[in-house]
Amino acid sequence: MTKHDYVHGYHSREETRLIDQANTLTELLHSDTVYPEGSTVLEAGCGVGAQTVILAKNSPKARITSIDISDDSLAAAKKRVTDAGFTNVEFHHADIFKLPFPPASFDHVFVCFVLEHLPDPVAALLKLKDVLKPGGTMTVVEGDHGSAYFHPDSAAARRAIQCLVELQAKIGGDSLIGRRLYPLLVSAGFRDARVSPRVVYADSSRPQMVEGFTKNTFTAMVEGVEKEALAARMIDRETWTKGIRDLYRTAEADGTFCYTFFKGTAAR
Ligand SMILES: C[S@@+](CC[C@H](N)C(=O)[O-])C[C@H]1O[C@@H](n2cnc3c(N)ncnc32)[C@H](O)[C@@H]1O
Repeated sequence: MTKHDYVHGYHSREETRLIDQANTLTELLHSDTVYPEGSTVLEAGCGVGAQTVILAKNSPKARITSIDISDDSLAAAKKRVTDAGFTNVEFHHADIFKLPFPPASFDHVFVCFVLEHLPDPVAALLKLKDVLKPGGTMTVVEGDHGSAYFHPDSAAARRAIQCLVELQAKIGGDSLIGRRLYPLLVSAGFRDARVSPRVVYADSSRPQMVEGFTKNTFTAMVEGVEKEALAARMIDRETWTKGIRDLYRTAEADGTFCYTFFKGTAAR
């Protein structure tokens, strides 16, 4: 994947969105990811470090190596981790498909929101499996935009979400990948694959979820592809504007929003 193939882009609003996403979902997605003292962990596709700080905090005695292909994201990740006071992470510019590590280097590999952007996720899992020690574990977290449903329902909002799904597919990604995690792990030859769905549910009794997820994570992500969706004539401007307005409408006092992430674990 080149920098241009990343559907969400690398601008600063996207950085804020990734941080909001990680902070809101920490407990739901990561509370059961704890690596033992002295173990080595590869975080592949660390982005701006939104998950790196969570990994470093949950496993303060593990030695974490975080890689990404974007220098700007790596610089932001390094700063985020240093500012938070963690010293158990080192960063490398590296491509998942050309990993600069000998085979069987790591006890654990962690990948979050990366496979959805790759044209061949099984090939990526095979590369990551190579650097995992026998018996080591793989953890993969992905979303699935087909799992979004909400009240009030809106055909325009569903259409706007579908634009993101189609745009991501056009550049070789799959934003519906969550439902495929189990077969992907099995195809890559991992043992003991287990997938657990993690449901985000937001209504106005959970204002942090409404702000952090419905508005600042999900709707901001859909809103981020406005230019591309309109330029590709996937949707007319009126339907787009209504779709985004209707997504924000689900964040009002009587609205609700539901989305499922999938967390897979397996062993080499
Ligand atoms: C959606 S971001 C997720 C970042 C982070 N894991 C998080 O959850 O906030 C996807 C990241 O994967 C990186 N990436 C994509 N393809 C990659 C590859 N082949 N090797 C390494 N990193 C890659 C991108 O540069 C981007 O930073």
